[in-house]
Amino acid sequence: MASNRSPVNLACVLMFLLFGMQLSYGDVSYSFPEEIKPGSVIGNIAKDLGLQVSRLGPRRARLFLGGNQMRYCEIKADTGQLVVADRIDREELCGTKVSCILKSELILEDPLESHLISLQIQDVNDNSPDFVKDTFKLEISESASKGSRYRINAARDADIGQNAVQNYILQKNDYFTLNILTNSVGTKYSELVLNKELDREDKGEVSLLLTAVDGGNPQRSGTAVIQIAVLDANDNAPVFTQAVYEASLPENSPLDTVVVTVSATDADEGENGKVTYEFSGISDDARKIFALNEDTGEIMIARNVDYEAKSKFEILIEGKDGYGLSTETKVVIDVTDVNDNPPVIHINSLTNPIPESVSPGTEVGIIHVQDADSGNNRQVHCSIHHGIPFKLIQSIKNYYSLVTTGHLDRELVSDYNITITATDEGSPPLSSSKTVQLSVADINDNPPVFGEQSYSAYVTENNKPGSTLCSITAQDPDWRQNGTVIYSLLPGEVNGAPASSYLSVNGDTGVIHAMRSFDYEQFRSFKVQVMARDNGSPPLSSNVTVNVFISDVNDNSPQILYPTTEGSSFMTELVPKAAHGGSLVSKVIAVDADSGQNAWLSYHIVKSTDPGLFSIGLHSGEIRTQRDISESDNMKQNLIVAVKDNGQPSLSATCSMYLLISDNLAEVPELKDISFNEKNSKLTSYLIIALVSVSTFFLTFIIIILGVRFCRRRKPRLLFDGAVAIPSAYLPPNYADVDGTGTLRSTYNYDAYLTTGSRTSDFKFVSSYNDTTLPADQTLKKSPSDFADTFGELDECTQV
Ligand SMILES: *[C@@H]1O[C@H](CO)[C@@H](O)[C@H](O)[C@H]1NC(C)=O
Ligand SMILES: *[C@@H]1O[C@H](CO)[C@@H](O)[C@H](O)[C@H]1NC(C)=O
Ligand SMILES: *[C@@H]1O[C@H](CO)[C@@H](O)[C@H](O)[C@H]1NC(C)=O
Repeated sequence: MASNRSPVNLACVLMFLLFGMQLSYGDVSYSFPEEIKPGSVIGNIAKDLGLQVSRLGPRRARLFLGGNQMRYCEIKADTGQLVVADRIDREELCGTKVSCILKSELILEDPLESHLISLQIQDVNDNSPDFVKDTFKLEISESASKGSRYRINAARDADIGQNAVQNYILQKNDYFTLNILTNSVGTKYSELVLNKELDREDKGEVSLLLTAVDGGNPQRSGTAVIQIAVLDANDNAPVFTQAVYEASLPENSPLDTVVVTVSATDADEGENGKVTYEFSGISDDARKIFALNEDTGEIMIARNVDYEAKSKFEILIEGKDGYGLSTETKVVIDVTDVNDNPPVIHINSLTNPIPESVSPGTEVGIIHVQDADSGNNRQVHCSIHHGIPFKLIQSIKNYYSLVTTGHLDRELVSDYNITITATDEGSPPLSSSKTVQLSVADINDNPPVFGEQSYSAYVTENNKPGSTLCSITAQDPDWRQNGTVIYSLLPGEVNGAPASSYLSVNGDTGVIHAMRSFDYEQFRSFKVQVMARDNGSPPLSSNVTVNVFISDVNDNSPQILYPTTEGSSFMTELVPKAAHGGSLVSKVIAVDADSGQNAWLSYHIVKSTDPGLFSIGLHSGEIRTQRDISESDNMKQNLIVAVKDNGQPSLSATCSMYLLISDNLAEVPELKDISFNEKNSKLTSYLIIALVSVSTFFLTFIIIILGVRFCRRRKPRLLFDGAVAIPSAYLPPNYADVDGTGTLRSTYNYDAYLTTGSRTSDFKFVSSYNDTTLPADQTLKKSPSDFADTFGELDECTQV
């Protein structure tokens, strides 16, 4: 390699040449460095051996190199110089030998000469130190103690001597220093010395560069990497992320809810760093509620949490690694309230039943409400529904009074179901309700009340004593005896006799009975007072008037007033011979004590001497000629007249009428003949007087009646065609009060019709008129509503 020869080398070569010439005559020795360029001149061998250069060629000078076939050097025949023919590598030729000498022979012919030539090859630093491996891997436990040593194999260098490995240099680091040693064969090697303890958790791997250097010039070096893996030792306990874990848990959270997760880390690895968790301090109740996942550290709910039972838990948890190092942490769990308890309503006191007479504002009951929750969930409001006369008043916290707000009336509402609703302020709010049943107790505050303002009973005369007239009813809404009605007749007089002799009232049923038989002709109505009283204490009562109306029955037959039939005397009417057809001859007058239809009279000729001569007005009773009187007519005429009333069945009476057709009284003697029976001449004069007086009355009466008819404009139709004045002397005394147009009593409003057919007046109201009995004359028909107009309400009682 050292192809360009430096001055120092040249000087050495010259020294060897001089020394060689002195020591070995005929032999020559050269020293030169390895790896010089082929063609480089090692020395002039001709000159050194004292040979003629020009003779070299002819003498066929040549070099032999031992048994080695390699030709490292050759002689230039023209100059006698020894030059390098091929690459010379000392390490290849000599290995680790300290001196490396190549022996060769220079052979000359003619004469044969042999010269020994030794070629000493000097080492050149052409090889770098080299480690067997590029990377050394070491595993050192972090627990290794300071001063521990770790040998590193030596680096190799093919060069020798100073050119071989002289030193090792370790990259600067915290943990190791390098110790350099020489082994028995003189090779230098190194070892790592632990100068500072390793911490895997701090640095798990240490990588160092180791450099080996030789002593050549220039120096060469080789490197290797030392990779140190720090092995773990269980030198770390688990560490929790928090000293205290706090969690808040709503009560009634579902099972398996994760409340909190504790977590501890262990810097170690593998089993040394695997942390498991367990309870280390826990109360018995908490142990039932919470479960711990020993691998994940999750605390879960295993059973329902009730704030009302316990609201705070403190638990100690231990975190442990695989080889038993452990730490503890604290978990504080606050259970928060959830509105899970509805309010509870207690009725502390209750007045039941309450009298209906209590005044508004009376306290009826005390209500107490409770709620097991806390905070707002515990705030309770109470209410009752509207529309009842009660309200709630809060007196002290959670206590309410139930008071009345108005007057109570058992007869309207006898029971109250009061629903009390309590609602808390939670979200959502919970509520509960309770129903209180309150009864209202009766007070006798209602008198019996009759269904009608007055009652009317209708009864036909000649009723049976004891027959039922009508029934009255009074209602009392009070309770039991306070509402039990008792009827009684109030003392009073009817026609001067005590009312109780006419009527009686059934005290329980209110049915009114007649005590005797009534006579329409005696009196037509009367009234009594009836009292209804309850059984309370004190009792309450009310009074009502009962009117009894008696209706007519056809129990009286017509009475003929004229001609009178009394005694043996008879009456004869004088008929003028010149009387024309239609002349009024006489009149039958009859009355009937009944009224209405029962007193409506009709007249009929039953039998007559000459049937075609006289007729009688059906309702007037007037007897008239039907035709002119002729001479041939019998002087003496005899008529038998029947008077019938219109009752059902009708009653009748008959009378005889004697008529004399004559113009003067001279013919009176013949009167004796007229009478069918014995003739009394003395009577003639009476008869004449009577006839004259009757005729005079009759005419006067017609004039009066006509006058009345013209004067009274709206007078209803008369029942009869003609009206005849009746001498008041004929009327029986008990009819006197209805004579004329006067009124009886203010309560009876009626018109009196003075008729020739009846001595009595016709009441407008008399309801006994049967429609069928008077089909022709509508004036007597009255509808029931007309009676109602007159007497007010008559519905209750029916006519008997
Ligand atoms: C009150 O409640 C009771 C029992 O539920 C029931 O029988 C009664 O009819 C109720 N009364 C009222 C006034 O609602
Ligand atoms: C009737 O009313 C009285 C008070 O007026 C009361 O004391 C009594 O209890 C009532 N009777 C009944 C059965 O309610
Ligand atoms: C009913 O009549 C009786 C007797 O006249 C009397 O004492 C009582 O006060 C009356 N009752 C009423 C409510 O008018």
